Amino acid sequence: MTGILAGKTALVTGGARGIGAAIAKAFAAEGAAVAVTYHEHGAEASAVVADIVAAGGRIAAVKADVASEEDAAHSVRETVNRFGGLDILVNNAGVILEKPLLETTMADFDWLMSINLRGTFMTGREAIRHMAKAGGGRVINIASDLGYFGREQFSVYCASKAAILNLTKSWAKEFAPRILVNAICPGPIDTDMLDLANMSPEWRAKEEMIPMARVGRPVEVAAAALFLAGPGASFMTGQTLDPNGGSVMP
Ligand SMILES: NC(=O)c1ccc[n+]([C@@H]2O[C@H](COP(=O)([O-])OP(=O)(O)OC[C@H]3O[C@@H](n4cnc5c(N)ncnc54)[C@H](O)[C@@H]3O)[C@@H](O)[C@H]2O)c1
Repeated sequence: MTGILAGKTALVTGGARGIGAAIAKAFAAEGAAVAVTYHEHGAEASAVVADIVAAGGRIAAVKADVASEEDAAHSVRETVNRFGGLDILVNNAGVILEKPLLETTMADFDWLMSINLRGTFMTGREAIRHMAKAGGGRVINIASDLGYFGREQFSVYCASKAAILNLTKSWAKEFAPRILVNAICPGPIDTDMLDLANMSPEWRAKEEMIPMARVGRPVEVAAAALFLAGPGASFMTGQTLDPNGGSVMP
């Protein structure tokens, strides 16, 4: 298969649906062999596999909980075993929590951080361990525009995304010039996480109160990931791309 990622192998955590699935499809369409991990959404992962195979792409689904150190190492090993290497990691898996601070328990905090922050840390560390030996690679961490500006009732989520932005910069400095590490901070994107169907009209109006006056689509985040994974981003590290409709202009 030809394309800007021909001959490359990518691992996308939480690639069974939403933004991760769109990234997996975009990478496969550009010639990459792609492994997606899933934890709970096995049926959706199978559907992503079927779509990519039908389009002529190479894809594997790996069951792995990003909150488990063992699973994080397994997902990297499995990708390398199946496709012979790992060139690109997208740390995409994530969860959100909407709760007033005074009702937020330590179990809530630990649950969210174990997936969003420890998950990014562990899969990132294992992928970089492989890339450092292999001579190079790309890491793309999915953060959020909320990681810049915070939001009432979402403090733990926002803090996890702000921390991911800093991991990105530190890893970029530690592993330049061979491993390039960048982040993406999407604005509101139409996925199950945003749950537009069940959103109150008031809250939806708030989400759309941005210069482009609409929420984004997963493919619009995938386009940013494709750029960061491809040859055009060869001089970019420690940076953030912001497909956010203008929600924040950092
Ligand atoms: N949708 C938005 O508005 C938006 C905005 C900014 C950032 N993001 C970020 O984009 C990423 C993708 O979110 P999405 O909008 O596609 O939501 P989503 O809920 O559709 O997808 C999240 C994925 O992460 C997976 N996941 C959750 N816990 C996991 C675990 N323990 N192990 C492995 N996989 C796990 C889920 O199964 C799912 O496939 C997340 O990191 C999210 O924080 C989303």
